[in-house]
This record gives sequence, C-alpha cells and structure tokens, in this order.
Amino acid sequence: MKSSNLTPIKVGLLGIGTVGSGVFNVLQRNQEEILRRAGRGIQIDMVADLDTARAQALVGPNVQVVNDARAVIANPDIDIVIELIGGYGIARQLVMEAIEAGKHVVTANKALIAVHGTEIFAAAHRKGVMVAFEAAVAGGIPIIKALREGLTANRIEWIAGIINGTTNFILSEMRDKGLDFDVALKDAQRLGYAEADPTFDIEGVDAGHKVTIMSAIAFGIPVQFDKAYVEGITQLNAQDIKYAEQLGYRIKLLGITKLVANGVELRVHPSLVPAKRLIANVEGAMNAVMVQADALGTTLYYGKGAGSEPTASAVIADLVDITRLHGADAAQRVPYLAFQPDAMSDAPILPMSEVVTSYYLRLKVADQAGVLARVTGLLAEAGISIDAMLQREADDVGGAGSTQTDLIILTHDCVEAKMNAAIAQMQSLPTVLAPITRIRKEELA
Ligand code: HSE
Repeated sequence: MKSSNLTPIKVGLLGIGTVGSGVFNVLQRNQEEILRRAGRGIQIDMVADLDTARAQALVGPNVQVVNDARAVIANPDIDIVIELIGGYGIARQLVMEAIEAGKHVVTANKALIAVHGTEIFAAAHRKGVMVAFEAAVAGGIPIIKALREGLTANRIEWIAGIINGTTNFILSEMRDKGLDFDVALKDAQRLGYAEADPTFDIEGVDAGHKVTIMSAIAFGIPVQFDKAYVEGITQLNAQDIKYAEQLGYRIKLLGITKLVANGVELRVHPSLVPAKRLIANVEGAMNAVMVQADALGTTLYYGKGAGSEPTASAVIADLVDITRLHGADAAQRVPYLAFQPDAMSDAPILPMSEVVTSYYLRLKVADQAGVLARVTGLLAEAGISIDAMLQREADDVGGAGSTQTDLIILTHDCVEAKMNAAIAQMQSLPTVLAPITRIRKEELA
C-alpha cells in the first residue's frame, strides 16, 4: 500500500504556546516531506489550552480546541499525546494518565523526565507505549538520538555540554562587554533571552535536568536529578572572566557527566575551558554538546537549544519515530534510556567531594614578602600541583599605592575534598584578605 493511502495518525496537543505553535506550523508546512519519511500522515486533531480563543485562532477551524487536557486523553481516536505544559505538577499527572489510557507520549519537559523519569518509563513499559523526549535536551539538536542510537556501538566516557542558552548568552555578554553578572542578566531580560524569573536558568537547574537525562542514556543508569551537583553563574564576575582569558581560557556553564572507576560524575557548574576548544567558542544563546566515546572519539553537536521551530523540529522527529513504530512489537523499539530495562547499571552518582578535576583560584592577598610562598606551600603540603600562576601588579588591582594584589593559580587535577581542605587552610591565613574564588577547570582533551 502506498504510504499516502494510510489514514494519518492522530495527535493531541496539551498546551499551545511557543513550542506548540511551532509544532503545528512545521507539521503543516512540511507535511509532504514528513509523510514521505513517516510512511503515514501525522495530524494534530485536538488541542487543549486554557486560552481556547487564542488556540483556535492559531490552529484554524478544522482542529478541535478544548480547555480540558483530560478530554484529549479520553479521546479514543488519539494515538499520541504531546505534553508541552512544563513543570512537574499537572504535567506529571497528565502524562501518567495518558500512559494509563494507552497513548504514546512526546514531551519537551526536561524537569519531568529528569525528576520523574523512572516512574514514567516503568508505567509506559507496563502499558507498552512509547515516551519520547528529544526536545527535552538541547532543544532542536538531536542529541538524544545521537547518544541512544548513533553512538550505540561505543562505551561513552564523558559528556560536557553548554545546554542552557540563557546563561551562555549572559556569559558571552559578560566577556564581550566586560559586564558583571547582574548587569548582563538585566540586558538578557530586556532583550528577551532571559525570563522574568530566570532562577532555573541562572542557578543551573535547567542544565542539571538536561545533563541528568544525558547521563542516564549515556551510561544506562536511572535518571537521578536529586543526586546531581548544581551550581549556577550568579557568583561569577567580569574580573575572573578577564583573568581566565589572560591564561587562555573561557568560562562556560557546563553540564558534565563522566563514567569513572568508582561511579558516575553528574555536575553543573561554571568551568574554565581552553579557548582553543570549539566548544569554548559557542557564543550567545546557542547550545553545544561534546561527547567522548571510545570507538568514535570526540564529537560535537551544535545548534539552537530553544525557540519555537527548533524545538518543534525535535518534537516532530519523535512523532515520526512513533508513527513508524506504532503497532509494531514493543521489543523492536529503542529502549527509553538506550539500555534494556533489565540491563540498567547501578553505578552510583559520586558526591562532589569525590570528583576529580582541576581548578582556577583567585586570592586577594596582602602584597608582602612570603605570602606567595605560604600559599603555594599549603598547596604543596596537600599534594596539589600548580599548573600556572598569574600575579597582578598591586597597582592594577587596588589602584596606585595599593597594598593588595590578586594571585591567580591554576592547578592540575586533584580530588575535590582535598581542594576544599586546602582552600580552608589558605583562607585562614591572615594575609588572605577576602573569600577565595574557586572555579573548576575542564581541559576537555
Ligand atoms: N531556558 C532554556 C535555555 C531553554 O535558556 O536554554 C529551554 O530549555
């Protein structure tokens, strides 16, 4: 039978905001192309949104618009429910109800998958339905597809990603214009790059959700956002960005996950990255994910991590996958987290104190004989090796006649617990005049 003779698969959309309208528009615009790829048309039949008038204006008269999401879930003609409501409150209930009703689910909701993924996948497995979430990580970049399928031959070693566009935009502005964080955040809000309440972005929570999902797929472990270390960019200042640059580094908010001998590292924090790495040059609101895999080596995935049609691109890719496999034996599907449910690993997520990395330290010190020797002596006693140092002329730091100076130290790798102890000792020196700034450093070699 020619694919165009099959009746279209019917889709219900929960929430038609920025991404939902992108999904509707791209499905309409590219329907021929999508039909040729999917083997069957994909049709949004029903939309649930609180603002029914606006929703109806967006989708036209041929789509049924309701203000009750449960009416979509209850419709026996709907095969796939797209959840674009966000958050883990009502969205979680609706996704669970859709699964119980035997619907396949597509979601862009990173928080939901990172926090409640285990429960959702277990329910979907019991009901024999698919749950797809390409749009949850790095927007339009097909990183879930790459990790779950394209790299399936490999043992993945680590992933490091710029997976939050808002913070990358702010960091780019701070570096370009020498702005401090607060000023750059206000600029980002004025230009529409940051939300009125940017907490999840600037505190690293959004990136934490995304790296948690990638970690699960890369290593075959359950999603465990509660065990991720999450630190945002609110404490960064223009001075550290400038010093890092003088040493050949850029500062980026990275989501990092690594498989190491004793477990899995799962962390989000600002990191110095060598300026010569491609990922260090990802600017503005763009996203990029670097993956180190044993057979392939390093790959880099770059593109738009948010926005109406870029995110719709990922949602529709999931719709096409589901359409192709709808009705097929569940055993033929790619597992939710890339590994078969009975073959998941119980490798523990390591506490931050056990993570091994290198560091940038900035100490404001009294400009006196012996200060440098005492600081480096403490590092030596702790067995922490120094990689590079920079000492600013006192006049550059505090103005003419200043008796203070900045001491910048880059270290080689050491375990974080050891660095914490060394920082506490350095901090107690009377010649260290302000709280020590510590930023982690990733060579990504
Ligand atoms: N708020 C996110 C970002 C986009 O700034 O990248 C959606 O995940």
